[in-house]
Amino acid sequence: MTAKIIHISDGFEEAVEAARVVLAKGLPVAIPTETVYGLAADATDPLAVGRIYETKGRPQFNPLICHMCDLGMAERYAHFDPISRHLAETFWPGPLTLILPLKADSGIHALATAGLDTVGLRVPKGFAASLIRAFGRPLAAPSANTSGRISPTHAQHVAEDLGEKLELIIDGDAAPVGVESTIVRVEDETIRLLRPGGISAEELEAATGRTIVRPASPSATIEAPGMLASHYAPTAPVRLDTREVRPGEALISFAGEPVSGEDRAAVILDLSPAGDLREAAANLFDYLKKADAATEVGIAVVPIPAHGLGEAINDRLSRAAAPRT
Ligand code: TXA
Ligand code: MG
Repeated sequence: MTAKIIHISDGFEEAVEAARVVLAKGLPVAIPTETVYGLAADATDPLAVGRIYETKGRPQFNPLICHMCDLGMAERYAHFDPISRHLAETFWPGPLTLILPLKADSGIHALATAGLDTVGLRVPKGFAASLIRAFGRPLAAPSANTSGRISPTHAQHVAEDLGEKLELIIDGDAAPVGVESTIVRVEDETIRLLRPGGISAEELEAATGRTIVRPASPSATIEAPGMLASHYAPTAPVRLDTREVRPGEALISFAGEPVSGEDRAAVILDLSPAGDLREAAANLFDYLKKADAATEVGIAVVPIPAHGLGEAINDRLSRAAAPRT
């Protein structure tokens, strides 16, 4: 099987219908979202969800994010506390996932939630929301890549990685945010950040007037088992926070700042010459792939500011650089 690729600019409604037909057969379909490309399947169908794990080659059954077309649909599947509802009203559709108590008899299959009594919900923008509305059921959708690889931000990334295993890939051009959604859980009026992502902690704090609590250590976040240390791994070794590039290394830079040894780099990729962290997040995974293709020596990455989307960028970079498991 080699995936058919349909571009949404060739007919939005036709693309929605083609994807809906694949979902109705119980098969996964690769779709654009504003964060990264997702491998979407019917969250209520255990065989369909099983095919997501099979296609990604995921070693364990991690809980998957279930995508809804709007807040009204989400409220049919989970209980919202007032703070979670306020966050949903403020940031949906958009790159925010809320961990919420699952409603009894929600219909979301335990394979999608890994048997937990909570569920991660998100309302995506654009094509994905239209597809969910047309399909009428929630879509479980992790990133559309082989487990452990860099998340896809272009349809071409998906085609190269999973094209032989899929029936259909919907092409919606570059994913504008470029990193996965921010995951939070509200408990006892405390907002805990389980995964930094496309909405910054500063934005969450501004919207709620509350301090965002981070887990003591990333590994303490047993609730997010998808947050394995070695994730997003390029083939070449990755060195972070460096101002010096070694001969033959690929350089990932930021804001045009000078790096010693630049003339000996295999390639120089500036995440945002203007120093814009949003632009840097949008380019991150694509540039990691390009850097990986340009060198076998290694990838050197300059320090990236820690504020705003820099938190999500640094989180993904530290996983890319972590010792391989
Ligand atoms: O941007 C995104 O969120 C992308 C796009 C495709 O929407 N999706 C995505 O999904 O990243 P996924 O399934 O790979 O994210 C799963 C993450 C894992 O870290 C998982 O542990 C956490 O969400 N998660 C899901 N359900 C959870 C739950 N009930 N409790 C705690 N963490 C949960
Ligand atoms: Mg992923």
